[in-house]
Order: sequence, then structure tokens, then C-alpha cells
Amino acid sequence: MKDPEMFEQIDDLDQESRYLIHKAKEAANHAHANYSKFCVGAALMLEDGTVITGANYENASYPLSMCAERVALYAAAAQHPDKRITKLVVVAKKKGGKELVPATSCGGCRQVMLEFEGNQKKPFEVIMQTDDHKWIKLSSAQSLLPFAFSRHNVEGTKK
Ligand code: THU
Repeated sequence: MKDPEMFEQIDDLDQESRYLIHKAKEAANHAHANYSKFCVGAALMLEDGTVITGANYENASYPLSMCAERVALYAAAAQHPDKRITKLVVVAKKKGGKELVPATSCGGCRQVMLEFEGNQKKPFEVIMQTDDHKWIKLSSAQSLLPFAFSRHNVEGTKK
């Protein structure tokens, strides 16, 4: 598949993706974003249809804050270690706001997504909203982080 696939609006996406956007939006309501006022929600689907969500959780000691994507990914790993992820959606809204605002995952979360793809030996789709308010769907987290550092560098093995 040619990454990214672009969609003008949510309605143009498939039903499963729209459902995950809805769940991610709900999760964003549970963000603890008292400092940035930027509420992020993530929802991922496992191969059996289980949905796991996460929201960003900030701390008065700013660097201890955690992104929504990683909250969801680590929760999935802890609760369903043997199930593969098939799709991850990230959305954001301003604290107190109703409408979604664009948010594309930070580099740290992209690196963590790659770790998960490596572990499960299968890519998963990533969906998010770009600055021009379009939705993009990637067939793999790899498309989000070219030339990434990986286990192959550490282990000295070839990709
Ligand atoms: N944030 C996420 O939750 N995910 C990202 O990929 C980027 C940023 C959060 C971190 C912080 O709580 C707030 O958004 C503002 O940076």
C-alpha cells in the first residue's frame, strides 16, 4: 500500500477506523492535561477486536508526563501480551473544547510504535489528523519514522 492514504473527512474512512476515532475522542476526555491544556486520546484495536484506549497524563514535573499513544500501547502490552495490534488512532482536542484538532504522534511515540511492530512481527495501521485537517492512514508505523534506530542496531543483525 502507498503510504499515506489521505481522507478529506472522517466519513470517508472505513467503519472500524471511525469507531476507533470515536473511542479515542472519548479517551481524550480523560486526559490529565492541566499544564498544556492539550488533550490527546489514543485507541488501538487488537486482532480479536478488543479496544484499548489511552490519554495523555501530565505531571507538575513536566518531563514525567506521558503521551496518550504510549499509555494505550503499554496498557495493551500489560493486559493482552499475546494479542497483536491491528490499528492505532490518535486524536486531540483543546481542554474544554468539543471539536478535534490536528495531532500527529511525537517522535518518541513513533519509536515506541516501531518497537511494538517489531515484537509482533506484523505492521499495524496508524490513523491521525494532519495540520491541514485531513486524515491520514499509514499501513505501518515504519512509514512514520524512516531510518529509525532499532533492535537490529543493538543486536548487530540485518533488517
Ligand atoms: N502528546 C501526546 O499525548 N501524544 C503525542 O504524540 C504528542 C503530545 C501530549 C503530551 C502533552 O501532554 C501534550 O500532548 C502537549 O504536548
